[in-house]
This record gives sequence, C-alpha cells and structure tokens, in this order.
Amino acid sequence: MATGEVHSQCAGYTLSLVNHGVPEELIEGLKANTVEFFNKPLEEKMVYKQDNDGTLQGYGQAFVLSEEQKLDWSDMFYVMTRPVALRNMKFWPTSPSTFRDNIDRYSLELTEVASCLWLYIATNLGVAPEVFAQLFKDHPQGMRFNYYPPCPEADKVIGISPHSDATGFSILLQINDVQGLQIRKDGEWISVSALPNAFIVNLGDITEVLSNGIYKSIEHRVLINTEHPRITLVAFHGPHNSLILQPLPEVVRDGKLNYGSMSYQEFMKALFNKKLEGKSIIEKLKL
Ligand code: OGA
Ligand code: NI
Repeated sequence: MATGEVHSQCAGYTLSLVNHGVPEELIEGLKANTVEFFNKPLEEKMVYKQDNDGTLQGYGQAFVLSEEQKLDWSDMFYVMTRPVALRNMKFWPTSPSTFRDNIDRYSLELTEVASCLWLYIATNLGVAPEVFAQLFKDHPQGMRFNYYPPCPEADKVIGISPHSDATGFSILLQINDVQGLQIRKDGEWISVSALPNAFIVNLGDITEVLSNGIYKSIEHRVLINTEHPRITLVAFHGPHNSLILQPLPEVVRDGKLNYGSMSYQEFMKALFNKKLEGKSIIEKLKL
C-alpha cells in the first residue's frame, strides 16, 4: 500500500480505502473467478460443502442453528487463508483453474494492507506498533465469498442480519456493482456505496475492546436487490487464537475500563452459538 489513502465515509468506523496498492489485474481475476464459481451448478459447488467441523469452511450458510429459523438470503463460501499452515485445501476450488492461486496472492497482498492499517490504528491510539504486530502475528485471515440472490419481494428478506464482525477489521471487496450494504449510525441505517475497486473497511469487535471503545465496531446488514445478485468478498482479519480479549493498558485512561475480559476462543464460541443479532456479544462485555 504505497500511497494508501483512507476516506472516512458516513460513520467514522467504516472506511473506503483507495490506492491500496493491490494490483488491478489480480482483483479483476479474482472477481471473474468468484462469479464463475457461484454460477456453477449446485452439485459442483456442493463438492466443497461445509462439513460441520466447527470452522464454517466450505460452501453453505453461516449461523444456521435450527430448522425453524428464518435464514439469511445468501449463500456463502468460506476458507481460512492464514496462517498458511491452517489452510485446508480440500475446501479450495480447483476450478476455475486460476482461483486457488488468485486467493493465495490476494491473501498475501492483504497482509500488507492490514499491516498498514494496524500501524495507523496503533499510531492513533498511541500504542507501540509492535504491540499490534504481536496481537495479530501470522495475520490470521479468513475469506468469505458472499452471494445474495435477487428476490422479487426483497423487502421480505434480509441478505445478512444486522451484526458487527468479530474481527480486528474486515476488508470488503464488491465483486459486482450491486449495492446493498448498510451501516447503522445513531440508530439509523445508512447505505454505503463502494467506489470502484476501493475496499470498504469495517472495524470489528476485537478492535473495539482492545481500544477500550475509542474505536467502535460498526453494525451492518445487507439488503437484497429485486433483480440482480450482489456478490462480495470479505476478508476477516482477527487476532491470534490465544488472545485474552481486554482493553490494552496503554489506552485505559484514569483506570477506567469500559470492557471486561474474555478469551478470544470463548468470544468466538459465543458468536457461533447464536443467530447474528446486532452487537449483542460485545454488549455483554461492556462494564
Ligand atoms: C460479512 C458482511 C457484507 C456484504 O460477510 O460479514 O457483513 O456486503 N458482508 O457482503
Ligand atoms: Ni459483516
């Protein structure tokens, strides 16, 4: 990210990132791969279906906990991309033929972008950059490809229920130009439109707790289009697995802790044990 620029859009905790330095040819290749993958017949995609291993990896849906619940109007495909040792290649599609390589290259490019963003955040908070480098070492990263089919009765369904991401931050790339993302600010839903090939960066719950609430995670949802599918790729950047989630001592002023502490693993367990519901998990950590 040689000449990265951050444009604050709407709420302060959702950013549009342009001039991020990720090659356009790579982004275009990945976009074409993603569209081609989702356009395949169901039985070809089901080769990669999730197998309830608790990691959500593969093709399917997230946060399905009962037969009765109303599902979000979306298909997804999720792979863990970093640390590289945690990749499970059985979930990585072999077709289109360039897909694996493009995911790998994109994953690496985003570690550069993520490092720059952590540096900005550390500097803003007055925390030594090494602290963040240590918390996010090996760049834990997962990629979720979202496909939101059109629906003639779009107002009766929701693409993704309101939630904040359980990440440090998430980097969203719109694969096509169908809008639908909304963020919540002061109780109101505001539509976010992406600039071409810009990244939308959504701050996540982990950053909110670490920063003692100086940075707030952003609640967001996706609306469905009546005619066109929306397709996105969201790269989640989380901390290493053994993190104890609590405000960093450097940012706590006058001893006032705004959040309790919880292991990151427990936090993720709580997240996956319920349907997405706004910022409900982080609310419980608030003191
Ligand atoms: C997500 C998400 C938004 C979008 O995957 O967590 O919020 O526009 N996606 O796909
Ligand atoms: Ni999200």
